[in-house]
Amino acid sequence: MGRVTLEELFLHPITQKYLKRSGIAHAVSVAEYAYIFAKRFNVNVDYATKAALLHDIGHYTWYRDGEWDYDLYKENDIHAIKGASRAHKLLISLGEERHAAKKIAIAILLHTDSYLPEGHLELDPLQQVVAMADEADEEGGGNHHYKRIDNDTALERIRALDAQIANGKNKTQGVG
Ligand SMILES: [Fe+2]
Repeated sequence: MGRVTLEELFLHPITQKYLKRSGIAHAVSVAEYAYIFAKRFNVNVDYATKAALLHDIGHYTWYRDGEWDYDLYKENDIHAIKGASRAHKLLISLGEERHAAKKIAIAILLHTDSYLPEGHLELDPLQQVVAMADEADEEGGGNHHYKRIDNDTALERIRALDAQIANGKNKTQGVG
């Protein structure tokens, strides 16, 4: 069986439904950053880009009177937990290998520590790459969630990433 592609993940109705909440443009940019960082730090690009694309798939809509309520969000958010679980289920349903699905899910779980108790976590290189990629696309006041992109452009960029990953497979493969 071939690799589960970013395109398959992206086009899935679950992804389309939930990623719209946090922004497709942000998800695509973070996947692109993850590709670059994964190459730089010799991390598995397939895992890193999948985790990056899906990292915000667990968002709930924190709207109050038509506007995103940041305080309500800060207080109640568990999007990393929800996202890890949702992404894992989606990956498995598309035929992803279990070991890979777990690594990707945990990278999503740890992409932010905003919901965790105070303390220090030792992230592995894959988890660091995904967290860094998210930060690289962040804008003040959560504005990265409002960036817009049309579907064709998003799909083109996703396909370009898939092609780069497929090409790289013939050369070297980093560790997960
Ligand atoms: Fe994000």
